[in-house]
Amino acid sequence: MIFPELTTERLQLIQLQTQHSEALFDIFKNEACMKYWDDEPYQDLKNVGRLLEILKDRITQQTGISWGLILKEKPDEVIGLLTYNHYQKNGLGIIGYILNQKYWGHGIITEALDVFIQYGFHTLGVHRIEAHVESGNIASEKVLQKIGFQKEGLMRDRAFYKNKHQSYFMYSLLHNEFKK
Ligand SMILES: CC(C)(COP(=O)(O)OP(=O)(O)OC[C@H]1O[C@@H](n2cnc3c(N)ncnc32)[C@H](O)[C@@H]1OP(=O)(O)O)[C@@H](O)C(=O)NCCC(=O)NCCS
Repeated sequence: MIFPELTTERLQLIQLQTQHSEALFDIFKNEACMKYWDDEPYQDLKNVGRLLEILKDRITQQTGISWGLILKEKPDEVIGLLTYNHYQKNGLGIIGYILNQKYWGHGIITEALDVFIQYGFHTLGVHRIEAHVESGNIASEKVLQKIGFQKEGLMRDRAFYKNKHQSYFMYSLLHNEFKK
């Protein structure tokens, strides 16, 4: 498979490789970045190795696909990750995204999600995209609302991670609601 690189005005979405491990560790060890993520902050590079394996397996099995995010003006540093944790043609896509804290608040994820979501609807052929957002994650809710996602409600105790049952808001976007 030729990996589909995606591009926007400021950004490139690229295939993640082991050479990006340090940059990913910088993101995934950060407590603020991980506050609403479904895992604890990473302790060492082995955690990144496991993450890369999981992401690679999903690509091989065609159940998920993920991109590393770089700024065109700074191509050596991976600054984020966008992932379809799961997708199915004519069915559901479940997404996640994370950005190095140094780059928060400049519209980067909103810009990246635009092509990422286009890819989901047009190339993966999903019909509905879901994002699961913990209460308090205002930045993430804002991003989704800017793109047109609808907040469907609170899924009570829908997941178990960080040693407890977790509730999250269900956000969704349907193919025919996406503008492009
Ligand atoms: C969520 C996240 C990806 C957003 O990335 P980003 O590039 O900073 O997002 P954007 O700049 O595109 O948009 C963020 C919006 O939220 C707003 N915002 C951020 N924090 C806010 C707060 N505490 N209160 C109100 N608004 C807030 C910003 O002002 C911006 O809105 P605007 O464009 O109307 O000004 C980033 O915060 C992150 O990586 N968080 C940790 C990982 C995570 O929680 N991922 C999502 C899991 S569901």
